[in-house]
Amino acid sequence: MECSCSSIFWLTALALLLVLVLKKISHTSTKSLPPGPPGWPVIGNMLDLGGVMPHQTLYKLQLRYGPVMWLQLGSIGTLVVQSAKAAADLFKSHDLAISDRRCPDVVKVHGYNQGAISVCRYGPYWRFVRRLYASELINKQIDGMTVRRKCIDDMIRSIEEETEASRARGGLGEVIVWQSLFLMTFNLMGNLIFSKDLLGSDGKEGHHFLDAMNNIVEWAGKPNVADFLPFLKWVDPQGLRRAASKEMAQALEVVAGFMQEREKERCSEKEKIERDFLDALLESESDEKEGKISYQNIKIIIVEAFFGGTETTSSVLEWTLTELLRKPEIMRKAQGELDSVVGAKSKVEESDIDKLVYLQTIIKETLRLHPSLPLLVPRNTLEDINYMGYWIPKNTQVFVNAWAIGRDPEFWDDPLTFKPERFLDANIDYKGQIFGLIPFGSGRRMCVGMSMAHRVLHLAVASLLHYFDWELDGNIIPETIDMNERSGMAVRKLVPLKAIPRRRRMER
Ligand code: HEM
Repeated sequence: MECSCSSIFWLTALALLLVLVLKKISHTSTKSLPPGPPGWPVIGNMLDLGGVMPHQTLYKLQLRYGPVMWLQLGSIGTLVVQSAKAAADLFKSHDLAISDRRCPDVVKVHGYNQGAISVCRYGPYWRFVRRLYASELINKQIDGMTVRRKCIDDMIRSIEEETEASRARGGLGEVIVWQSLFLMTFNLMGNLIFSKDLLGSDGKEGHHFLDAMNNIVEWAGKPNVADFLPFLKWVDPQGLRRAASKEMAQALEVVAGFMQEREKERCSEKEKIERDFLDALLESESDEKEGKISYQNIKIIIVEAFFGGTETTSSVLEWTLTELLRKPEIMRKAQGELDSVVGAKSKVEESDIDKLVYLQTIIKETLRLHPSLPLLVPRNTLEDINYMGYWIPKNTQVFVNAWAIGRDPEFWDDPLTFKPERFLDANIDYKGQIFGLIPFGSGRRMCVGMSMAHRVLHLAVASLLHYFDWELDGNIIPETIDMNERSGMAVRKLVPLKAIPRRRRMER
């Protein structure tokens, strides 16, 4: 009896010890950070980011450290997620915890970081403006459709003019496609927000606005040590914030001019027929019930809409045409589909898009390989999270590498080849639920402009292929097209695409 009591005692003690040891082990494992390259004192892994194309450097680093990686960027702990499976786990289990943003120092000027919803904190202001954005800018079906039609028609006209000008100069009719694509997206935003073209019109304001935007993008695209070593913020060692502040002031001033003009119109008896985004924003300025947007924030929201909606969309269009020129058989197949769906009609209509199944696969394939914002817009954790067995502390910056995820060999066969057919029998879209294809992000903070981008991309590519046959200019062959990237607001072609459009035999 004595013997069995002591065995029970010892067995219980042993079991307790085992539980304690297991608890300790599991506690330590949840407390461990993901693997990552060793860092230097003070700067940590800043040098591992590798300059202006961090998405490419990070993609290479995952060969060594796996799809979930930790970087210490100066004082900023950073989680990097680079596979479809890891992204699924992140967004499905921790979306709320990663709904905050980390805003780069260079745009913390004139209150931009508080007014712009892409970088502002997660909370009631973000929710209110995002709803307004969606209802008054993105999903305005009828007005939006007319405006898109007009801007696409203008784009085709501008390409024809450019090609004629080239011939008049003795050229082959080649055009730098980017210019017409960007003009289209810029004037599209101008029409949706201010009911007018900002470029190509008589006024100089649109050009001043564009110059300021381009300069801000230039400054924002440069790696800034003040982002990683906050004690340097007040010194602004590279002068980036000072430079961006000057340009932001100019952009905001141009917008203020348009707003004053509109306020005068609104006070006059003249009745305006179409209500645009500016009207909606000005109404919300005085809307006491729903919330209130300050005058300064209205200007900021407008600047942001141009940032969000122009270069992103036009860069995807340029990549699409580039990929098609590298694979002319895919371009011909898409034109064959257009001939059978749109036929002799002079214009592609938005109602044709659903029937253009092959064209849709081309857009998906382009977005897979060329997401405009390869690291999405960096998130920030609101609390500690236990993610895939790792402990990720509150206030961690999160990079989701959509560029690497689009090349994830676990998710995609032959991931580096442009092959739209891969989507034909696969039920894959980019609405943020299929984590191998997230060019617009996922979850609460995914792109609010996705449905607008979706319509514009399809209508523009369909129209470009319906109106024109495209050829490369004589010195370049498909195999030698430069596919290097450059970063700005969006990642686009380093060497702008030059191509020769030839009118297809079709009446307009
Ligand atoms: C091809 C075109 C576009 C691409 C590839 C794109 C991509 C993205 C991505 C990746 C994000 C971050 C999502 C995340 O963190 O999960 C984003 C956010 C955003 N985009 Fe887009 N975008 C495009 C077009 C547009 C357009 C047309 C607009 C508006 C006119 C727009 C406005 C915004 C805004 C305001 C946000 C911030 C959303 C938030 O933080 O709640 N985007 N976009």
